[in-house]
Amino acid sequence: MEVKKPFVVGVGIMGAGVGQLCAQKGYDVTVVDTSEEIVEKAKAKVSAGLSRRIEKGKITQEDMDSVLSRMNWSTDLELAKDSDFVVEAIFENIEVKKEVFQKLDSICSPETILASNTTALSISEIASATSRPDKVIGMHFFNPAVIMKLVEIIRGDETSDGTIETTKEFAEKLGKVPIVMAKEAPAGIVSRVLGGLLNEATAVYADGIASAEDIDEAMKLGAGLPMGPLALIDMIGLDIHMAKMEILYGKLKDERYKPPEIIKKMVAEGKLGKKSGEGFYKY
Ligand SMILES: NC(=O)c1ccc[n+]([C@@H]2O[C@H](COP(=O)([O-])OP(=O)(O)OC[C@H]3O[C@@H](n4cnc5c(N)ncnc54)[C@H](O)[C@@H]3O)[C@@H](O)[C@H]2O)c1
Repeated sequence: MEVKKPFVVGVGIMGAGVGQLCAQKGYDVTVVDTSEEIVEKAKAKVSAGLSRRIEKGKITQEDMDSVLSRMNWSTDLELAKDSDFVVEAIFENIEVKKEVFQKLDSICSPETILASNTTALSISEIASATSRPDKVIGMHFFNPAVIMKLVEIIRGDETSDGTIETTKEFAEKLGKVPIVMAKEAPAGIVSRVLGGLLNEATAVYADGIASAEDIDEAMKLGAGLPMGPLALIDMIGLDIHMAKMEILYGKLKDERYKPPEIIKKMVAEGKLGKKSGEGFYKY
């Protein structure tokens, strides 16, 4: 099946990015959230981002106008009835996601594929809220969705090969490189491997082995990382990293993923990284 009418639920960091990406690649896309206020805010953010690209000479005003004209912003989930491929990008909460998938299942045509951008929740569990588990799949974009090349494709227990093929082709049409998991596992590849690495960097810091600057510099020079792990945690947000690790540790019961004490302490002190002005660095 060729995707013709994508639909995005949730216009937060990820949903707005996925919607913009679809429009940039020529799709007419509808993006919905729960209130006019949230939708308007996201729309303004997308417009501001595109305006910055004009200022940098990367796109023309015409390009911006045509991207925006392909994005239909709404609060009406019922509009999903005309869509053949839905990407859900709402809060990382299993109950909320199941509720939305149940609604989408009753709104959408039986052929429509329902994809979730979940980081660590179970696709099989999300799919259990629908009558089409063969058409439910994980399509994990990375932030910022417009730029990052990778899309992890995660199958649930009952996801069909046809659904995987269509999702792969759609990801490629969006200019991404899809990587299909051989089996379902919490957090796919990148979040899991990176989570362990980031935790270890905080352990080296907490043990007083080196300063934040030296740990980051060493990892850049010695491991070829484009950015130091502690600067990366600051960018992600210490609270977000902690929440991800809580989910992973809860599911895998493996000490490597346990949220480190130092992260818990810093979060309690309001040191959330770049967004709060202080984390491993001061901003
Ligand atoms: N932020 C990241 O770096 C990142 C990367 C990859 C995947 N993800 C995953 O993507 C999903 C979204 O993350 P985010 O960072 O964009 O979150 P976010 O908090 O920025 O946005 C979530 C949006 O969903 C909306 N929403 C909540 N319930 C809704 C409902 N019932 N109907 C419609 N909209 C609803 C909220 O109003 C909000 O605008 C999560 O599952 C997350 O794990 C996040």
